[in-house]
This record gives sequence, C-alpha cells and structure tokens, in this order.
Amino acid sequence: MSQGLVTAAYIIAAVCFILSLAGLSKQESAKHGNLFGIIGMGLALAATIFNPNTAGVEWIILAMVIGGAIGVRLALKVEMTEMPELVAILHSFVGMAAVLVGWSSFIDLHPQAVNELFGKHELEAFANLGKHSLDGAMLNIHLVEVFLGVFIGAVTFTGSVVAFGKLRGIISSKPLMLPHRHKLNLLAALVSIGLMLQFVHVGGAFWPLMIMTLIAFAFGWHLVASIGGADMPVVVSMLNSYSGWAAAAAGFMLSNDLLIVTGALVGSSGAILSYIMCKAMNRSFISVIAGGFGSDSSSSASSEEMGEYRETNAEEVAELLKGSSSVIITPGYGMAVAQAQYPVAEITQKLRNLGVKVRFGIHPVAGRLPGHMNVLLAEAKVPYDIVLEMDEINEDFEETDTVLVIGANDTVNPAAMEDPGSPIAGMPVLEVWKAHTVIGFKRSMNTGYAGVQNPLFFKDNTQMLFGDAKASVEAILKAL
Ligand code: TAP
Repeated sequence: MSQGLVTAAYIIAAVCFILSLAGLSKQESAKHGNLFGIIGMGLALAATIFNPNTAGVEWIILAMVIGGAIGVRLALKVEMTEMPELVAILHSFVGMAAVLVGWSSFIDLHPQAVNELFGKHELEAFANLGKHSLDGAMLNIHLVEVFLGVFIGAVTFTGSVVAFGKLRGIISSKPLMLPHRHKLNLLAALVSIGLMLQFVHVGGAFWPLMIMTLIAFAFGWHLVASIGGADMPVVVSMLNSYSGWAAAAAGFMLSNDLLIVTGALVGSSGAILSYIMCKAMNRSFISVIAGGFGSDSSSSASSEEMGEYRETNAEEVAELLKGSSSVIITPGYGMAVAQAQYPVAEITQKLRNLGVKVRFGIHPVAGRLPGHMNVLLAEAKVPYDIVLEMDEINEDFEETDTVLVIGANDTVNPAAMEDPGSPIAGMPVLEVWKAHTVIGFKRSMNTGYAGVQNPLFFKDNTQMLFGDAKASVEAILKAL
C-alpha cells in the first residue's frame, strides 16, 4: 500500500467516524451510525497494518486475533445493565496504551537514559533505537507530548479500573473521604507540573517521567475513589473523554493523524456528554467530581410534612386508562430495575388498539445511563415515533387525561421548579402534575436518587399504585 493510499484511507476513515457519531445521536439512525463506525475502524486498521512503514505485522495480527476473540466473547455475554462497566474497563485499556506509547516514545529518543539505569547488556533490544533524533523546539514539543500523554493515560487507566470496580461491586461504592483530599489532588497536579518543567528542561530524563507516572496512577485512583457509586455514569463519560485525549496525545507522539482526529472526536464527544448530563441534573461538573450528592436531604421536607397520599389498584387504573383519550407514560429508574418495559410495551399496544393516544415522555437523565429508557423501550419494540424527549412533550401534559409515572421520581419532582431550597432546584423536569390524573408506580414512599421527597405523590390528582413496577403493569394488562 503506497503512502498516498494510506493517507486517503485515513481521511475516509475519519469521515466515517464523524458520520458514525452523527448517526448515533438518533435512535432511527443508530444502526447506520454503528455501521459507519465499523467501516471506519476496518479501514483504519487495514491502512495501518499495510502501511509501508509498519514493521512486525505478524505480531500485530496475533495481538488482534487474541484481542478480537476476547472482545467478541465479552460483547456476546454482556447484559445491557453491565454496559457501563464494560465501557469503563475498555477505557482503562486506552489509558494504558497511551502510557505505553509515551514510554516507548521516550525510550526510542533516549535509549541512553535507560541504559545508564539498567546497564548496557540488558538493553540490547534497544540497540536499534535512538536513531530518531530531535532538537530545539521540536524536541521540547515532543517531550511535552510524551509527558502529557503518559499523565492523561495513567489517570485514565487507574480511574477507569476504580470505576469498573465500583460498578461491578468489587470496590465499595461509598466515596472515599481522605482528609484534605482536595489539597492532595492539587498537590499531585502541582508536583506533576514541576516534574514536567524539569523533564523538558533537561531534554528528557527517566526519573521525572517515572515519578510522574506513579503520581498520575495514584491521582486517577483517588479522583474516582472519592466519588459515590451513583455518580459513576457521569464519571464514566468523563473518563471516556479522558481516554479520547489520551489517544489524541498518542497520535501526536506517533505522528498519526487519524489517531489525533479520532482521539479528539472521542475526547470532545465525551466532554459534551458529561456536560449534557450535568446540565440535565442541574449540577456543576465540579460538584459531581467533589462527590457527596444525595447524602444530605435535610433541606427538603419530610413525607410527614407533605400530607396524605391516595392509593389505587390495578383494576381501577385499567378502567381509568380505558376511559382516557390521551395517555403519557414517563418511565424512570424503577422501570429498568423491575424490567417492566415488556408489559409496558404490551399495554401501549393494547391501548392504541382501543384508540387511545399513547406517548412516552423521556427525561434526559431518567434511569442511570444516557439513553437508558430509550434503549429499554427499543428493546421491547415500542415504536420510536411515540417516544418523545422532555422538551417535545412538556407542553402537552395539560391536555393529557392520564400520566403513568413508572418508577420515576426525581425526573418528575415539582419541587425542582417550586422550591428554591430543594437540592434539585433548577433541574428541568417533566411537568406531569399538570395532567388530569397521575398514577405513581413505586414500591414505597422512599425517595429517588437525589434523596429528596417528591410532593407530586401527595397532590390531589395523584394516586399511588404500590408494588414492583413489572407486577403492577402486568396486573393492569390482565385487567385490560
Ligand atoms: P429516581 O429518582 O432514581 O427514582 C426511581 C424510583 O423508582 C424510586 O423512587 C424507587 O422508589 C422506584 N423503584 C425502584 N425499583 C422499583 C421497582 N422494582 N418497581 C417500582 N418502582 C421502583 O429515578 P428517575 O426519575 O429515573 O431519575 C434518575 C435520577 O438519576 C436523577 O436524579 C438523575 O439525576 C440521576 N442520574 C441519572 C443519570 C443518567 S445519565 N440517566 C446519571 C447519574 C445520575 P421505591 O424504592 O419506593 O420503589
């Protein structure tokens, strides 16, 4: 393959990755988005392997066969609910790859630094290295690339390992609260900057890079260990962003344009996703990183102060639904826990057959993952065109007869709009209370993720249907 052909393949692959991201932003086009991603990655791999400058092709192919076999096995086995932990561990690989690329790049330019340390004999393998030499500004730029690449990679690696452990339940999901933890983080960052200045000043040296690598491993570990388990989705998307920047840094070190473009796409899309999630929760990124959300519910009213709630049963709800001309279903985390999406899809079909207009209202952070509800509803084959985003449906609640709030709590809490003292004040919510009748599906009067009581469940037009969401929906289905 000529160098020109490689460059052309890289450009096409980059365009495929952009089309992939565009496709993945909508359910209808998600499959095409995936396909573009696969084509882009296939092209990128082929162009890299058959690049005239690539050596040791047999090793690359061996690694790909082993890695590919493990990847296929994992992808076939993984449950939807285990997806975040799979993503977390994959990010750790990107982080480690950036660390290894950084170190190899350093050894390639400075074999003498390692020789001096270990003695010449052990390092015969490096005999051919050191033939690339840089000087002046080019050397400084390269050293900064190496240093930053290793730093971001090491933070991503241990941070992702901890996120994986917390999501899997191997590591306690409680935030680790070391004394002076913010000062410790600041110290780690300052020492690393100092080491970088020294590393560049001496034209590259072993110890500053090694000490920084160890500090960055500890820093990444501590950063994620001090965040509570429930905030992990935001952390995983933040690590997604870091892994992109680590890959971009590796691209600079290897002078590989496609890796730079791809890393930048992953880095910025992860950052945008983290921003969207934080905005939809009305929390600043810093407050997520600082941890501790939902642990203090003292500022919100307790359930005794809210008054009384009314209970209903499945038969009454079935009658109510039959008499309604328009129904909106707002699912939340409880629907995912109960796996109630299948009977929900059946009820939807049944009501539509009876001539009732049924739609879904999806809050951007309903559940625990971006797009959690959309994935569950798509799995249960609910038609895409009746699944609407919060902004598309929020004005329609006033003209709606019945709203079924299935396992949602914070995302339908009027206190976010009415109580400036509430911990979720300012978070945009689905304004379900404006409908004629609201049915709340829950197992108890317990709070949701943010740990705040929800006045919706005490309003005159709300009735509670207690029990596991799946059992409740199945009972309604039977009564229908
Ligand atoms: P939540 O506020 O977490 O409330 C879920 C409700 O479901 C709970 O009140 C619980 O009440 C009920 N529930 C649990 N298991 C159930 C079951 N088997 N059957 C019936 N009900 C059940 O849910 P939400 O409205 O979806 O809000 C999501 C929250 O997660 C938001 O605060 C959001 O900020 C946060 N968050 C979301 C994301 C993303 S990206 N989606 C990321 C991080 C954080 P009972 O215990 O009484 O049954």
